[in-house]
Amino acid sequence: MAFALPNLFGTGARRTVDSIEPRRTFDDVILPLSTRRALDQALVQVTSYDLVFNRWGLGEKHPSGLALAFNFAGPSGTGKTICAEAIAHTLGRRLLIVRYAELESMWMGETPKNVAAVFRLAREQRAVLLFDEADAIASRRSTSVEQGFQREGNLVVNVLLQELESFTGVVIFATNLAANFDPAFERRIRSHVLFEMPGIGEREQIWRVQMHPTRTPLAPDVDFRQLAESYEASGGDIRNAVLKAALAAAAEPGPDSAKVIEQRHLQEGIREVMAARRVMRQSLFDAAEALSRDRTLDAILSIERSVSRRTTLAGLAAGIAFLLALAALVTALLR
Ligand SMILES: Nc1ncnc2c1ncn2[C@@H]1O[C@H](COP(=O)(O)OP(=O)(O)OP(=O)(O)O)[C@@H](O)[C@H]1O
Ligand SMILES: [Mg+2]
Repeated sequence: MAFALPNLFGTGARRTVDSIEPRRTFDDVILPLSTRRALDQALVQVTSYDLVFNRWGLGEKHPSGLALAFNFAGPSGTGKTICAEAIAHTLGRRLLIVRYAELESMWMGETPKNVAAVFRLAREQRAVLLFDEADAIASRRSTSVEQGFQREGNLVVNVLLQELESFTGVVIFATNLAANFDPAFERRIRSHVLFEMPGIGEREQIWRVQMHPTRTPLAPDVDFRQLAESYEASGGDIRNAVLKAALAAAAEPGPDSAKVIEQRHLQEGIREVMAARRVMRQSLFDAAEALSRDRTLDAILSIERSVSRRTTLAGLAAGIAFLLALAALVTALLR
C-alpha cells in the first residue's frame, strides 16, 4: 500500500515510503548460524517487549525511552529487508519501509519534517519501522555546521533521537556498512545484527527456498549443491538468478506443459547476475578512484595555492623591508 502523506509518496517504481502487510516469515530466510543467533536474541527482546509494553499496557504507563531500535548491517542481498518483514510478521504488524537515501535526496531541506511524519504514521499504523539504506543517518552528525547538508544531517539525527525517545515500537536501521554511529544514536541501538554472506550450505538452501515448493517445474538435472559450490552469490543474487532462469525456461519453444527449469537455465541466470555485479562493482570502483584522484588533485592545487600565496606574501614583506632600509639610508645620508 502506498501511503497517503502528501509529499512522501512518489509515483515512481521505487516509492520513498511503503507500508506493507508482511507475508514472508522466518521460514523463507536462511541465515548463517551467527546471524541467526544475533537475530534470535533481537527477536526475544521484540516478543517480550510486545507482551510487556503493548499487551500488558506498560508502554502507556511509561511512555518514554522505550523504542526497540536495531541495526541490521551487512552487504546487499543478505536478507536484511526480508528479516525486517519476518519480524513484523511475527508481531502481526504492518511494516513501514522508508528508503532513507531517497527520502533525503528527494526532499532536501524537508528531511527532518518527513522523518517526524514517518514516525507519526508508524504510530498510527502500529507498524514496525524500517529505515532502509540508513548509512547516511547512522554516520552523520558532524560538529562542523558549515554546509547546508551537514546542518540538515545534524537536524535529522536530533529529530530521530527525539522520536526514538517517545516511540514505543520496533525500529530497524538497515545499513550496508558497519557504519560509524553517532554516539548519542548508538546508545539508542539495542543490538547490531551482522548479516554475513551465506556459505555453501546456506546457499544451497536459499536456492531451494526461492522455488515454489509444489508448483515450480524443475528438471531432474537441477543440482542446487553444485550451484551453491560454484557461485559465491548472496541471497539477492540467487533470487535474481532464479527469476532470470524461470523467464528463460518459459521462453523456450513448445507447449507450456512441457516447459521446465533446467540446470543450464539456472547456471546462465547466476552467471549473468554475477557478471552484472562485477560490472557494477568495477564502475563503483572507477567512480571512487576518480573521486579520490579529484580529491588528490584538489589537495595538490590547494597546497600550490597556499605555497604561492606564501611566496607572494614573503616577496611583499621583503620589498617593504628593502624600501624601509633604503629610506633609512637616504635619511642617514641627508643628515
Ligand atoms: N538469507 C536469505 N534467505 C533467503 N532468501 C534471501 C536471503 N537473503 C536474500 N534473500 C532473497 O533475496 C531478496 C533480497 O534480499 P533483501 O532485500 O532482504 O536483502 P538486503 O540485505 O535487504 O539487501 P539491500 O542491502 O540491497 O537492501 C529477498 O527478497 C530474498 O528473496
Ligand atoms: Mg534491503
